Amino acid sequence: MMKADWSNRRVWITGASSGIGKALALELSREGARIVVSGRNAERLAEVSKACAGEVWVLPFDAADRKATCEAAREVDHAWGGMDTVVLNAGICEYIDLPAFDATSVQRVMDVNFMGIVYGIEAILPLLRKGHLPHLVGMSSTVAYTGLPRAEAYGASKAAIRYLLQALRIDLLAEKIDVSIICPGFVQTPLTDLNDFPMPMRISAEESAKRIRKGLERRAHEIRYPTCFALILRTLAVLPSRLRTRLLATMSPNWQRAR
Ligand SMILES: NC(=O)c1ccc[n+]([C@@H]2O[C@H](COP(=O)([O-])OP(=O)(O)OC[C@H]3O[C@@H](n4cnc5c(N)ncnc54)[C@H](OP(=O)(O)O)[C@@H]3O)[C@@H](O)[C@H]2O)c1
Repeated sequence: MMKADWSNRRVWITGASSGIGKALALELSREGARIVVSGRNAERLAEVSKACAGEVWVLPFDAADRKATCEAAREVDHAWGGMDTVVLNAGICEYIDLPAFDATSVQRVMDVNFMGIVYGIEAILPLLRKGHLPHLVGMSSTVAYTGLPRAEAYGASKAAIRYLLQALRIDLLAEKIDVSIICPGFVQTPLTDLNDFPMPMRISAEESAKRIRKGLERRAHEIRYPTCFALILRTLAVLPSRLRTRLLATMSPNWQRAR
Protein backbone atom coordinates (compact mmCIF):
# COMPACT_ATOMS: atom_id res chain seq x y z
CA MET A 1 0.00 0.00 0.00
CA MET A 2 1.34 3.47 -0.86
CA LYS A 3 1.76 6.01 1.93
CA ALA A 4 -0.97 8.27 0.48
CA ASP A 5 -3.48 5.45 0.76
CA TRP A 6 -4.08 6.21 4.47
CA SER A 7 -6.15 9.13 3.29
CA ASN A 8 -9.77 8.53 4.38
CA ARG A 9 -8.95 4.95 5.30
CA ARG A 10 -11.18 3.74 8.14
CA VAL A 11 -8.98 2.46 10.99
CA TRP A 12 -10.08 1.07 14.36
CA ILE A 13 -7.45 0.92 17.12
CA THR A 14 -8.17 -0.71 20.49
CA GLY A 15 -6.01 0.14 23.49
CA ALA A 16 -5.66 3.65 22.06
CA SER A 17 -5.98 5.59 25.33
CA SER A 18 -2.23 5.36 26.04
CA GLY A 19 1.13 3.98 24.95
CA ILE A 20 1.55 2.27 21.59
CA GLY A 21 -2.12 2.51 20.57
CA LYS A 22 -2.26 6.24 21.30
CA ALA A 23 0.99 6.90 19.38
CA LEU A 24 -0.35 4.86 16.44
CA ALA A 25 -3.62 6.82 16.41
CA LEU A 26 -1.63 10.09 16.27
CA GLU A 27 0.66 8.72 13.56
CA LEU A 28 -2.15 7.43 11.31
CA SER A 29 -4.36 10.48 11.81
CA ARG A 30 -1.45 12.64 10.58
CA GLU A 31 -1.48 10.48 7.44
CA GLY A 32 -5.15 11.26 6.88
CA ALA A 33 -6.86 8.13 8.25
CA ARG A 34 -10.32 8.29 9.87
CA ILE A 35 -9.91 6.63 13.23
CA VAL A 36 -12.00 4.94 15.90
CA VAL A 37 -10.10 4.96 19.21
CA SER A 38 -11.14 2.48 21.89
CA GLY A 39 -10.18 1.58 25.44
CA ARG A 40 -12.06 1.79 28.74
CA ASN A 41 -10.99 5.27 29.83
CA ALA A 42 -13.24 7.74 27.94
CA GLU A 43 -11.44 10.81 29.30
CA ARG A 44 -8.03 9.71 28.10
CA LEU A 45 -9.52 8.69 24.74
CA ALA A 46 -11.02 12.19 24.40
CA GLU A 47 -7.55 13.68 25.00
CA VAL A 48 -6.10 11.42 22.30
CA SER A 49 -8.89 12.50 19.97
CA LYS A 50 -8.09 16.18 20.61
CA ALA A 51 -4.41 15.60 19.86
CA CYS A 52 -5.19 13.85 16.57
CA ALA A 53 -5.12 15.72 13.27
CA GLY A 54 -8.23 14.43 11.52
CA GLU A 55 -11.57 12.70 12.12
CA VAL A 56 -11.55 10.62 15.31
CA TRP A 57 -14.41 8.76 16.96
CA VAL A 58 -14.08 7.97 20.66
CA LEU A 59 -15.72 4.62 21.38
CA PRO A 60 -14.98 3.26 24.86
CA PHE A 61 -15.65 -0.37 25.74
CA ASP A 62 -14.10 -3.21 27.72
CA ALA A 63 -12.23 -5.52 25.34
CA ALA A 64 -12.75 -8.47 27.70
CA ASP A 65 -16.54 -8.09 27.38
CA ARG A 66 -17.89 -9.99 24.38
CA LYS A 67 -21.28 -8.28 24.37
CA ALA A 68 -19.80 -4.79 24.67
CA THR A 69 -17.40 -5.54 21.80
CA CYS A 70 -20.27 -6.71 19.56
CA GLU A 71 -22.32 -3.62 20.43
CA ALA A 72 -19.40 -1.31 19.62
CA ALA A 73 -18.91 -3.05 16.25
CA ARG A 74 -22.63 -2.73 15.45
CA GLU A 75 -22.46 1.00 16.18
CA VAL A 76 -19.44 1.47 13.91
CA ASP A 77 -21.01 -0.63 11.15
CA HIS A 78 -24.17 1.46 11.33
CA ALA A 79 -22.27 4.77 11.13
CA TRP A 80 -19.35 3.93 8.83
CA GLY A 81 -20.67 0.92 6.91
CA GLY A 82 -17.53 -1.17 7.36
CA MET A 83 -13.88 -0.96 8.39
CA ASP A 84 -10.63 -1.08 6.40
CA THR A 85 -7.97 -1.68 9.08
CA VAL A 86 -8.46 -3.02 12.60
CA VAL A 87 -5.58 -2.95 15.09
CA LEU A 88 -6.47 -5.13 18.09
CA ASN A 89 -3.88 -3.76 20.47
CA ALA A 90 -5.52 -3.58 23.94
CA GLY A 91 -3.56 -5.51 26.52
CA ILE A 92 -2.32 -5.84 30.08
CA CYS A 93 0.73 -7.44 31.64
CA GLU A 94 1.05 -9.35 34.90
CA TYR A 95 4.12 -11.31 35.92
CA ILE A 96 4.02 -14.58 37.82
CA ASP A 97 5.87 -14.69 41.13
CA LEU A 98 6.92 -18.17 42.19
CA PRO A 99 6.75 -20.07 44.49
CA ALA A 100 3.07 -18.97 44.43
CA PHE A 101 1.33 -19.64 41.10
CA ASP A 102 -1.86 -17.62 40.82
CA ALA A 103 -4.38 -18.91 38.27
CA THR A 104 -6.53 -15.77 38.60
CA SER A 105 -3.64 -13.69 37.28
CA VAL A 106 -3.35 -15.97 34.23
CA GLN A 107 -7.12 -15.72 33.76
CA ARG A 108 -7.09 -11.90 33.87
CA VAL A 109 -4.31 -11.67 31.31
CA MET A 110 -5.89 -14.23 28.98
CA ASP A 111 -9.31 -12.55 29.28
CA VAL A 112 -8.04 -9.16 28.09
CA ASN A 113 -5.15 -10.07 25.79
CA PHE A 114 -6.33 -13.28 24.12
CA MET A 115 -10.11 -13.36 24.51
CA GLY A 116 -10.17 -9.59 23.85
CA ILE A 117 -8.70 -10.28 20.42
CA VAL A 118 -11.00 -13.25 19.86
CA TYR A 119 -14.07 -11.10 20.65
CA GLY A 120 -12.66 -8.34 18.46
CA ILE A 121 -12.26 -10.69 15.52
CA GLU A 122 -15.76 -12.12 15.96
CA ALA A 123 -17.32 -8.65 16.05
CA ILE A 124 -15.23 -6.82 13.47
CA LEU A 125 -14.64 -9.45 10.78
CA PRO A 126 -18.05 -8.76 9.18
CA LEU A 127 -17.07 -5.07 8.96
CA LEU A 128 -13.70 -5.92 7.39
CA ARG A 129 -15.52 -8.04 4.78
CA LYS A 130 -17.13 -4.79 3.61
CA GLY A 131 -13.85 -2.86 3.83
CA HIS A 132 -11.42 -1.58 1.21
CA LEU A 133 -8.21 -3.71 1.01
CA PRO A 134 -9.12 -5.12 4.45
CA HIS A 135 -6.39 -5.59 7.01
CA LEU A 136 -6.69 -7.38 10.35
CA VAL A 137 -3.87 -6.58 12.77
CA GLY A 138 -3.20 -8.02 16.22
CA MET A 139 -0.74 -7.13 18.96
CA SER A 140 1.49 -9.99 20.05
CA SER A 141 5.06 -9.49 21.34
CA THR A 142 8.59 -10.79 20.89
CA VAL A 143 7.94 -12.62 24.17
CA ALA A 144 5.88 -15.04 22.03
CA TYR A 145 9.07 -16.44 20.46
CA THR A 146 10.23 -18.38 23.51
CA GLY A 147 9.33 -18.95 27.17
CA LEU A 148 10.80 -16.23 29.40
CA PRO A 149 11.02 -16.10 33.21
CA ARG A 150 7.91 -14.73 35.01
CA ALA A 151 6.09 -14.41 31.67
CA GLU A 152 4.02 -17.59 32.04
CA ALA A 153 0.74 -15.63 31.78
CA TYR A 154 1.68 -12.68 29.57
CA GLY A 155 3.87 -14.73 27.21
CA ALA A 156 1.26 -17.48 26.88
CA SER A 157 -1.37 -14.89 25.90
CA LYS A 158 0.94 -13.39 23.27
CA ALA A 159 1.97 -16.79 21.88
CA ALA A 160 -1.72 -17.74 21.66
CA ILE A 161 -2.46 -14.52 19.76
CA ARG A 162 0.38 -15.22 17.33
CA TYR A 163 -0.90 -18.73 16.62
CA LEU A 164 -4.51 -17.57 16.29
CA LEU A 165 -3.56 -14.93 13.73
CA GLN A 166 -1.18 -17.19 11.81
CA ALA A 167 -3.99 -19.71 11.41
CA LEU A 168 -6.56 -17.04 10.53
CA ARG A 169 -4.21 -15.60 7.90
CA ILE A 170 -4.36 -18.90 6.05
CA ASP A 171 -8.15 -19.19 6.30
CA LEU A 172 -8.70 -15.55 5.30
CA LEU A 173 -6.46 -15.70 2.23
CA ALA A 174 -9.42 -16.76 0.10
CA GLU A 175 -11.32 -13.63 1.21
CA LYS A 176 -8.33 -11.34 0.51
CA ILE A 177 -8.22 -10.12 4.11
CA ASP A 178 -4.57 -9.53 5.06
CA VAL A 179 -3.41 -10.37 8.58
CA SER A 180 -0.43 -8.75 10.32
CA ILE A 181 1.00 -9.63 13.71
CA ILE A 182 2.89 -6.97 15.69
CA CYS A 183 5.78 -8.26 17.81
CA PRO A 184 7.54 -5.42 19.61
CA GLY A 185 10.41 -5.68 22.06
CA PHE A 186 10.42 -3.13 24.88
CA VAL A 187 8.56 0.12 24.18
CA GLN A 188 8.34 2.94 26.72
CA THR A 189 4.69 3.12 27.82
CA PRO A 190 2.74 3.13 31.11
CA LEU A 191 2.81 -0.69 30.87
CA THR A 192 6.63 -1.00 30.83
CA ASP A 193 7.07 1.92 33.25
CA LEU A 194 5.94 -0.57 35.91
CA ASN A 195 8.71 -3.06 35.11
CA ASP A 196 11.36 -3.47 37.79
CA PHE A 197 14.05 -5.04 35.59
CA PRO A 198 16.40 -3.79 32.85
CA MET A 199 14.74 -3.37 29.44
CA PRO A 200 17.45 -3.52 26.76
CA MET A 201 16.93 -1.62 23.52
CA ARG A 202 13.68 0.02 24.75
CA ILE A 203 12.32 2.48 22.16
CA SER A 204 9.75 5.28 22.39
CA ALA A 205 6.05 4.79 21.64
CA GLU A 206 6.42 7.28 18.76
CA GLU A 207 9.23 5.25 17.17
CA SER A 208 7.13 2.11 17.70
CA ALA A 209 4.17 3.74 15.90
CA LYS A 210 6.37 4.60 12.92
CA ARG A 211 7.64 1.00 12.73
CA ILE A 212 4.05 -0.27 12.85
CA ARG A 213 2.85 2.16 10.16
CA LYS A 214 5.66 1.14 7.81
CA GLY A 215 4.97 -2.54 8.48
CA LEU A 216 1.26 -2.06 7.79
CA GLU A 217 2.06 -0.27 4.53
CA ARG A 218 4.15 -3.30 3.46
CA ARG A 219 1.38 -5.63 4.65
CA ALA A 220 4.12 -7.45 6.57
CA HIS A 221 2.99 -10.77 8.04
CA GLU A 222 4.99 -10.02 11.16
CA ILE A 223 6.07 -6.53 12.24
CA ARG A 224 8.95 -7.15 14.66
CA TYR A 225 11.21 -4.54 16.21
CA PRO A 226 13.73 -3.50 17.36
CA THR A 227 15.32 -5.79 14.75
CA CYS A 228 18.31 -6.75 16.89
CA PHE A 229 16.20 -7.52 19.98
CA ALA A 230 13.79 -9.66 17.95
CA LEU A 231 16.74 -11.50 16.41
CA ILE A 232 18.18 -12.29 19.84
CA LEU A 233 14.89 -13.80 21.00
CA ARG A 234 14.43 -15.75 17.77
CA THR A 235 17.97 -17.09 18.15
CA LEU A 236 17.30 -18.08 21.77
CA ALA A 237 14.21 -19.93 20.55
CA VAL A 238 16.25 -22.24 18.29
CA LEU A 239 18.96 -23.06 20.85
CA PRO A 240 18.90 -26.55 22.39
CA SER A 241 16.25 -26.46 25.14
CA ARG A 242 18.64 -27.37 27.98
CA LEU A 243 21.10 -24.64 27.03
CA ARG A 244 18.32 -22.02 26.62
CA THR A 245 16.78 -22.98 29.97
CA ARG A 246 20.11 -22.68 31.82
CA LEU A 247 20.85 -19.32 30.20
CA LEU A 248 17.45 -17.86 31.00
CA ALA A 249 17.28 -19.35 34.51
CA THR A 250 19.86 -16.81 35.66
CA MET A 251 17.18 -14.13 35.06
CA SER A 252 14.58 -15.93 37.20
CA PRO A 253 14.09 -14.57 40.75
CA ASN A 254 13.19 -18.11 41.83
CA TRP A 255 16.58 -19.36 40.61
CA GLN A 256 18.38 -16.45 42.28
CA ARG A 257 16.58 -17.15 45.59
CA ALA A 258 17.48 -20.83 45.46
CA ARG A 259 21.22 -20.17 45.07
N1 LIG B 1 5.22 -1.67 25.82
C1 LIG B 1 5.85 -2.75 25.40
O1 LIG B 1 7.08 -2.90 25.58
C2 LIG B 1 5.10 -3.82 24.67
C3 LIG B 1 5.84 -4.83 24.04
C4 LIG B 1 5.15 -5.83 23.35
C5 LIG B 1 3.78 -5.80 23.27
N2 LIG B 1 3.08 -4.80 23.89
C6 LIG B 1 1.63 -4.80 23.78
O2 LIG B 1 1.19 -3.58 23.24
C7 LIG B 1 -0.15 -3.34 23.65
C8 LIG B 1 -0.26 -1.92 24.17
O3 LIG B 1 0.50 -1.84 25.36
P1 LIG B 1 1.24 -0.51 25.83
O4 LIG B 1 2.64 -0.89 26.12
O5 LIG B 1 0.96 0.60 24.92
O6 LIG B 1 0.55 -0.32 27.25
P2 LIG B 1 -0.47 0.75 27.84
O7 LIG B 1 0.03 2.13 27.60
O8 LIG B 1 -0.77 0.30 29.21
O9 LIG B 1 -1.75 0.56 26.90
C9 LIG B 1 -2.63 -0.50 27.05
C10 LIG B 1 -3.93 -0.12 26.39
O10 LIG B 1 -4.82 -1.23 26.49
C11 LIG B 1 -6.06 -0.76 26.98
N3 LIG B 1 -6.72 -1.79 27.77
C12 LIG B 1 -6.24 -2.51 28.82
N4 LIG B 1 -7.18 -3.31 29.30
C13 LIG B 1 -8.30 -3.11 28.56
C14 LIG B 1 -9.62 -3.64 28.57
N5 LIG B 1 -10.01 -4.56 29.47
N6 LIG B 1 -10.51 -3.20 27.65
C15 LIG B 1 -10.14 -2.25 26.74
N7 LIG B 1 -8.93 -1.71 26.68
C16 LIG B 1 -8.01 -2.13 27.58
C17 LIG B 1 -5.71 0.45 27.84
O11 LIG B 1 -6.83 1.33 27.88
P3 LIG B 1 -7.77 1.58 29.16
O12 LIG B 1 -6.92 1.57 30.37
O13 LIG B 1 -8.38 2.92 28.83
O14 LIG B 1 -8.77 0.48 29.12
C18 LIG B 1 -4.59 1.07 27.04
O15 LIG B 1 -5.11 1.93 26.06
C19 LIG B 1 -0.47 -4.41 24.69
O16 LIG B 1 -1.20 -5.46 24.07
C20 LIG B 1 0.89 -4.91 25.10
O17 LIG B 1 0.86 -6.24 25.57
C21 LIG B 1 3.71 -3.80 24.58
